[in-house]
Amino acid sequence: MFRTRRQFLAMARAAGGAAAAGAIVSRKVFGFENEAPAGPARHSMADTQQAPPRQMLNPVTLAKFVDALPIPTVIPSEGKRPSPRNRKLQLPYYRIEMTELTAQLHRDVPPTRQWGYAGSVPGPTIATQSGQGLLIEWVNKLPTKHFLPVDHTLHGAEADKPEVRTVAHVHGAKVPPESDGYPESWHTPGQSRTLYYPNEQDASTLWYHDHAMGITRLNIFAGLFGAFTITDAAEEALNLPSGAFDIPLIIYDRTLDRDGQLLYPVSATPGAPFVSEFYGNAVICNGKLFPYLDVQPRKYRFRLLNAANGSYLHLTLAGNRAFHQIGSDLGLLAAPVELRTLVLFPAERAEIVIDFAGLEGQELQLNTAGAGFLQFRVQTSHGAPDASALPATLRSVPRTPESQSVRERILTLSEHDDASGNSMQMLLNESHWDMPVTENPTLGSTEIWSFVNLAGDAHPMHLHLVRFQVLDRRPFDLFAYNADKSLVYTGPAVPPDANELGWKDTVRADPGMVTRIIVKFEGYAGRYVWHCHLLEHEDNEMMRPYDIVPAARVSGKKRV
Ligand code: C2O
Ligand code: CU
Repeated sequence: MFRTRRQFLAMARAAGGAAAAGAIVSRKVFGFENEAPAGPARHSMADTQQAPPRQMLNPVTLAKFVDALPIPTVIPSEGKRPSPRNRKLQLPYYRIEMTELTAQLHRDVPPTRQWGYAGSVPGPTIATQSGQGLLIEWVNKLPTKHFLPVDHTLHGAEADKPEVRTVAHVHGAKVPPESDGYPESWHTPGQSRTLYYPNEQDASTLWYHDHAMGITRLNIFAGLFGAFTITDAAEEALNLPSGAFDIPLIIYDRTLDRDGQLLYPVSATPGAPFVSEFYGNAVICNGKLFPYLDVQPRKYRFRLLNAANGSYLHLTLAGNRAFHQIGSDLGLLAAPVELRTLVLFPAERAEIVIDFAGLEGQELQLNTAGAGFLQFRVQTSHGAPDASALPATLRSVPRTPESQSVRERILTLSEHDDASGNSMQMLLNESHWDMPVTENPTLGSTEIWSFVNLAGDAHPMHLHLVRFQVLDRRPFDLFAYNADKSLVYTGPAVPPDANELGWKDTVRADPGMVTRIIVKFEGYAGRYVWHCHLLEHEDNEMMRPYDIVPAARVSGKKRV
C-alpha cells in the first residue's frame, strides 16, 4: 500500500539519504494505519455520536485483478466559441458537468457514491495540442449538501458560505489569472463558469481538479479530478508509444466502508471534523481497485499521476524490473532515466515507458510499497510489430543558471500542534491565507525560492502558472533557525535526482532541509497561489496568494 510520509522519512534516514538527522520535530501522525484496522474507523468518534459506526472494508480481502483497468475517455468538444482574447478566432468549446454518480470500484464491492466530472471518476481526459487554445464551461450540477464532513471552522468554509462550492483548476497550466481557478472564485450548484486555456506550453501531462477554498480535500476525495494532456510536434517526432499504447494511470488512495462507500475520517472534536492528513488503505487506479490491463509484448507509455490527498507512491515493478522515466510534471526529460523505484508525491506526474517485449504470456504487477495494485497481462499474440521508439535523447532542457535569479526568498513551512500534540494548522512563512501578499515577483524575472521545512514531514510544494527547476536540498540546523532565524547548514547540498532535472511544478520539500527551486515568472501578471499539495494542509492555511507584477513603469516615484 502507500507509505506515510513519516515512513518515507524513516526510510530516507535509514538509507543515509535526503532527510537530515537532528532536524526532526516530533508530531503525531493523524491517519490510518496502512494495514486496515478491522473494527470501526478510529477517527469516527464524532460520527458515532449520531450514527452507528461504519465498518471499514479491508481491501486485502478482495479478489485481485478481476476488473479491467478503465481508460478515461477523451472528451470531444461541442463546437466552437470565440476566443476571449480575439473574438475573430474560434476555439473548441467543452462543457463539463459535475454531478453525483455511483460507480463500482471493484466487482465485489457495491457501487460507491462519488462526485465526478462528465459522469466519471476520474473525469474524462482533455487532450489538446500545444498552442491550441480551448474553452471549458465547468457546470456545477452537484447537490447542495456535501456528503463528506465539511469543517466550518476552516477559513473559507465558514457556515455562512454555501456548503457545496466548486472551482476547477488545471494544475500545471499556463493560464491568465481569471481562468486559473482562484480558490475564492467558486461557484455553487446551478451555476457554471467558462474558463479559457491558451495551452501555450510544451507537451505535458497536466491534470484538472477542484480547488474550492476550505473544501478542496473533500471535493477531490469525492472524485473531482482528471487528466489534461498536451502534445506538440517535437514530442510527436520522437515516435514514442502512442495511441492505444499511451495510457494515463491516475492513482489515489481511499478508505471505504463495507457498503463500498467513501469513508473520510473525522476528528474527535465535535463541530470541527478536520483531520490534518489522510492516508487510505485502498489503492485505486483509474477508478478501480486491483485492476488488470491486457498488454501486447511491446513498449507502452504510461502517464502516472499521484492524485492522492496525502500519500505518496513508492512504485516498483514485480521482480524489480527496470523501466524508464521519460517525463516529469511539465514535459519530457532531456533523456530517459532508467529506474527500478519511482517515488511520486501528491500532484507529481511521471511519464514512464515499460517494455513488455519478451514477457509473452506472463503477468507483471505494478506495486506501491511492495504491494501490487495493477496487473499487466502480457498477451502472446503480437499485434502489429512495435514501431515505436525510446530515443536516447528526448529534448534539450537547459538548466537555468543561478546567476539569472534577481532575488532569493526564504520561505518557511511549519506545522502547529494543538494541546494534545495533533498538528492543527500548517503555515507558509508563518502567514495565513488572508494576510497581505508578500510574494510579488516581477513578470519576466527569475527568482530562487528556498523552502525551509521546519516541520517533521515532507511537503509537496506547488506554484501555479509557472514551471521551475529543482536546484538542491540542503540540511540545516533547526535549533539554530528557531533560536534566531539563522540558516546554518549541517551538510552539503544534495543535487536533485536524475528524474528531477526536468521542468517541475511540484517539488518535495523534505523535513530538515532547505529545498531550493529556480523559477522564471513568465506568462501573465496577476494573482495566483502557491501551496502545499497535501490537500488537508492546503485547506488549513498552507496556501498563500502571490502576485506577479508587471515590470515597473518608468515613473519618478517608483524608481529608486
Ligand atoms: Cu493541483 Cu493549486 O493545485
Ligand atoms: Cu504540507
